Formats: sequence, C-alpha cells, structure tokens
Amino acid sequence: MTPRRILVTSALPYANGPIHLGHLVEYLQTDIWVRFQKLRGNQCIYVCADDTHGTAIMISAKKAGVKEEEFIAKMSEEHQRDFAGFGIEFDNYGSTHSEENRVLCHEVWAALLEAGLIKEKDVTQLFDPVAGTFLADRFVKGTCPNCKSPNQYGDNCDKCNATYSPTDLIDPVSALSGATPELRTATHLFVELEQLREFLIEWTQSGEHLQPEVANYLKGHFLSNPLRDWDISRPGPYFGFEIPGYPDHYWYVWFDAPIGYMASTQQWCDRHGEEFDTWWRDPETEIHHFIGKDITYFHTLFWPGMLKSAGFNLPTKVHIHGFLTVAGEKMSKSKGTFIKAETYLKHLDPAYLRYYYASKLGPRLDDLDLNFEEFQNKVNADLVGKVINIASRCAKLVHKTGLSATYPEDGGLFAAGAKLGEEIAAAYENCDFAKATRLIMELADAANLYVDTQTPWKLAKDPDQAQQLQDVCTVTLNLFRQIVVYLAPVLPRLAQRTRELLHAPLASWNESQTPQAGTPVAEFKHLMKRIDPKDILAMIDDSKEPEAKALEAGDKTATAAAHHPADSAEPLLAEPLAPECSIDDFAKVDLRVARVLAAVEVPDARKLLKLTLSLGGEETRTVFAGIKAAYQPERLVGRLVIMVANLAPRQMKFGLSEGMVTAAGAGGTEVFLLSPDEGARPGHRVH
Ligand code: MSP
Ligand code: ZN
Repeated sequence: MTPRRILVTSALPYANGPIHLGHLVEYLQTDIWVRFQKLRGNQCIYVCADDTHGTAIMISAKKAGVKEEEFIAKMSEEHQRDFAGFGIEFDNYGSTHSEENRVLCHEVWAALLEAGLIKEKDVTQLFDPVAGTFLADRFVKGTCPNCKSPNQYGDNCDKCNATYSPTDLIDPVSALSGATPELRTATHLFVELEQLREFLIEWTQSGEHLQPEVANYLKGHFLSNPLRDWDISRPGPYFGFEIPGYPDHYWYVWFDAPIGYMASTQQWCDRHGEEFDTWWRDPETEIHHFIGKDITYFHTLFWPGMLKSAGFNLPTKVHIHGFLTVAGEKMSKSKGTFIKAETYLKHLDPAYLRYYYASKLGPRLDDLDLNFEEFQNKVNADLVGKVINIASRCAKLVHKTGLSATYPEDGGLFAAGAKLGEEIAAAYENCDFAKATRLIMELADAANLYVDTQTPWKLAKDPDQAQQLQDVCTVTLNLFRQIVVYLAPVLPRLAQRTRELLHAPLASWNESQTPQAGTPVAEFKHLMKRIDPKDILAMIDDSKEPEAKALEAGDKTATAAAHHPADSAEPLLAEPLAPECSIDDFAKVDLRVARVLAAVEVPDARKLLKLTLSLGGEETRTVFAGIKAAYQPERLVGRLVIMVANLAPRQMKFGLSEGMVTAAGAGGTEVFLLSPDEGARPGHRVH
C-alpha cells in the first residue's frame, strides 16, 4: 500500500487564556490520531498555532499593561510548554500574527474579491466613547429586552434564552469602561456566502466530509434558508491585519484564524524544503481538521467556502468532538473543576489523562465527562492492573537469560492478537478510541490469563524448568509488546520505556504482527504507578479560585454547558402546605451541606441509589435515596446536596441508611436535588 499524505490540524487556541483540561480533549484526540497515522507508515504532519487577533486579546494586553505582541508571545510560550507536557507533538506551531499568515490572507482576500464575493455595507454598532472602541456583543451588558432581567450580555439572555442584538438591550453599559455606549456607523466588508450555497450543500451533504449529525444540523439550521452575509471586517482600533485598500479596517479574527492552518504549514515547508502546494493544492493530499462542536459553523461553511473560492484543497474531513464537563457539571473555578493543564501536571502523570480520554472518545459529538472516581478506576484497573502487570510479572525473571532463541508455541495467542490489529486500526482511523482501547484491554485480559495459568513465579523456583520459564516469559513479553504497539499512539512514554526494556524498535504498527525472539531484556524499571487519590484531591484544591471573575474571557465551557431549560410557567404551589410548625420544631432538623463521594445503583431495588456522603472532615454517611429514575449515579459524584444529618438511622433491606437527601418534585423522574450556591462547603449547617 502506498503511504497516504495527511495534513492534520487542531483548532488554534486563543492567546488570551491558559490551556485547560477541556482544550486537551481536542489536542489529545488529535495527537493520538496523528501518532497512529505515523505508526502506520503514512506521511503525516500535525500543524497548529496560537490564535492571536481580536478585541478580547487587545483588551487583555491592555489590562496587563503590555503591547499585544509581548502578550501573545508569552501566551504562546505557555501554550507550547503545556502541550509538550502532555506529550502533544506538533510538527509546527505557529501564530496567526505571522508574516506567512499576512501574505496568505492577502492571497485569499484577492481571490474572494476576484470571485465577486465581497460587498460593503454600513453597520451601526455600540461604541464605547471612553475606551475608544466598538463593542463586541459580549462586551456590552444590560437589561434583557424580553424578560427584563438585568445584567445580561449583548447577544442573548441566560434567563429567558432570548437572542437579540446589543442595540436592543435596555440601559446598556460597556463592560470595558462602564460607560454608556453610543451608536456609531461604520463601513464593514461582507462575504456573500449565499453565492456559494450550491457548493456548500453539495460539500456538506456528500456524506464524505462530516459526521452525519453535523451534516443534518447544517442542513436544518443554515442551508434550508438563504445564507446570511458574513461580516469579516472590523473598524480600528483592532489587533489584526489591516485590509488592503481600507485604511484602519481590519480582517475579523475568524477570517485570518483558519488561514493560520496554511501559514503554519508554510513554516513547516520552509524548514523542511517542501512545497506548500503539495499540501494545499495537490488533490492527493488529505486534510483533516479536528475541532470542538462550538466552532462547527466556521469550519464547515465559511472555511470550505473560502478554500473553494481561492482554489485550495478542501478539507477531506472535519472531525468534531463534544465538550468536557467535570464531575457532571461545567467546569467551575470556585469548585476547583476548572483545571489548567499546568496544574494537572503538577500533580498527575499525563499518561493517565491520555488513556482516560482515549477510553471515552467515540466518533460522535457527545459531551464527555471527567469523573474522578472513574478516572482513578480506569487507570489503576486497566493500565496498571492489566497492562503493566503483564510485564512486571515476567520481565525480572528473564533479565539474565533474555528471550528464548525461537518463539515458542503459545496456543495461537500472538496470532489472535495480530489478527485483531486490523480491527483496532480501523477503530483508531474512525476516531473510535473507546473501541480501540476496549479491544486492547481484551488482549491484556488474555495475556494475564496466560500468565495466571502458566505460573512463571513457580517455574522460577525449579531449576529443571528453566527452559519452560524462559518460554513462558518470551510469550508473555511478546504479548505485552504487541499491546504496547497498539497503545503507542495513546501512551508514547510507555512505548519509550518498553523500547528500552525489550530492545524493540516500536516504531511501526507492523511490529504487532511478528513475535520477537533471542533478544535481551533490560533490568525492569517501573513503567507506571497507580493513581493516588490524594493527588487528585490536591489538584482540585490547587485549582480553586475563591472569586470567579465575572467576565472571564476564553472560558467557553461556561456557555457551552450552560443550557438550562427556561423557567416555564410553574404553578406556584404544586402541593398543599403542611401544617404550621414553630421555629423550635424546625431547629430540631439538622440540615447540612454534604458532598456526594460515591453513588451506585442498588441491585434489586427499583428506585434506590446508594450514596456515600461527606460532611467535611472524616465524617461520611451512607444514604439510600429513591432517586434512581431521575439521576444517573455517575453524574452525582462530586456534587453538593442538602442532607438531613440527624435523622435516626434506619435499617433497610439493603443496609443501614444514615440520613436523607432533600429534593423537590413529585418523585419518579421528577426529582430535583437541592444544592447550595457556589462557595458552600460540606458540613455547613442550613439555617
Ligand atoms: N481560536 C478558536 C479556534 C480557531 S480555529 C481556526 C477557538 N479557540 S479556543 O481556545 O476557544 O478553543 C480551541 C479548541 O478547544 C476548540 O476546538 C474548542 O472547541 C476546544 N475546547 C475549548 N473548551 C473545550 C471544552 N471544555 N471541551 C472540549 N473542547 C473544548 O475556538
Ligand atoms: Zn431575558
């Protein structure tokens, strides 16, 4: 088979905030896919860059009291340090504020003009007279024109979900200076996307480039109506590239950002003496973009439209993933679940997260939850308990002799593992890493079973069994090596250590297909240690920021996960009130804030979940709660609830219940657990 030529990108992270565990879903997914392609012998390069332009970065630099160039240089250094810390290996990491990008932007722009796609229109926008700048939607706050809730952003209301234009806000204020904005009119440049409609329908609906749910979403939300003109210019002051022929007008950040993919490729080509056109104009080359679902629109409509008009290669595939939640909720600074890459690395081995994400990533767009209990279990049970265990039980026993001179009879185990390789490879190719890791764990189970039945530690005690011992260890270490080849895209460091242990090249997928014999075995050093839950707790503690700032730029998790159902018209009183009670009666009930440490289904009990609750300090309680129909147990772990802490313990069929959790609603699926506002801690009493 001739190797494929593949260009791969991840979205360019904004240069106005640190890399966090949400971002890493994407960069790890991409890195694993790229490593897989390289292992298979394809020519593959992975390019990325910092996304450096726009109002938000201009303002952040101003706040930091430095020039934009200085601000983005420092950010880029931090981003690259964090990516490297997680073993994410780019072939080139650039910046959208580069000369290469400026040149390519001019080229694409000229092509759009030539194609007659650009038109001018006047736009009236809110302008901050104190800051001297036009205000992007999220820099205006005011009262919702629909439901009159105060303090809403300029584009939509998080109380009633209405969307509107910032000029509709009642009593708007600038979030930059607090000044009352005024209306000003300026000329903007637009791309008439509607002219490309036929092409976009064909490209998005061909079934080749997009996940089916994405194609359907585009068809339903955009392509069934005339496409709106896309505003791609901003009047100054703006940190970006000035548009030729339009002094003090700049390309909007989303115009030059995807062109940054090309600019980064250009830099790679310049360093390697390769031709840019090989990667962006040769139809034999595949281009794969990896992005999060929040930026679908830009990558599946605007970007293909730009590429098509300028005569570049179109993306072969846009791979779109869902969003990360932590402990079942959007990441939160006050709860310590907004975890920066840097903070994680202070406490935990990056291999843990690489494996955990891989084990959860499928080809669809589902959101994915980082559940710390599951994280710990998967790593300790799968990686250390299954995979590492195979080698650690045998390597020492053949350190002196090395592997047998010829590969012994193994009952077909190695061949079966080799055969499964194609299925594992197909799963990686389809971004179904969950399936790939599941198949690999099946091989690890088989290898462990082999060790269990062959009992090498017993053979080692009997000098007459020396050959048998060497043979058993040779089989086992080959099964281990095969598994490490399959896991190498996910766990490059484990592959590196195994390379040293077994003197195996581990550079090609094909090594999984033939056993190795007669080679030395190095001294066994630890390959990976178990997760200590104390390290997870320390990381969470380290991530807590007491006052989460109101206007945090760059924290998109907030908007992506904040999809609360609108408060529909509820009857004021669903149930009749209970008879009056005195304050003394009420004070007898000791209500406390508690944290759910564990939640499991109770087998045989239709309605019950068994909860382990922490009241702060050492004290934990077991409570059986009739909430199974309304809550998946894994979503409860980590959240705060209000419990009745002094309820007399009650012996139930399934165990002793030591309290009660409070909830609203009629029961069944209609149960709403009560939680305190952010800041409350386990043990706090409710008064
Ligand atoms: N700068 C733009 C992308 C321009 S690409 C030409 C951007 N930057 S970002 O820093 O906000 O996000 C970078 C990538 O990380 C995006 O694909 C985004 O979807 C992804 N994620 C950011 N937060 C995330 C989660 N919480 N979960 C999963 N992915 C997340 O968008
Ligand atoms: Zn509203």
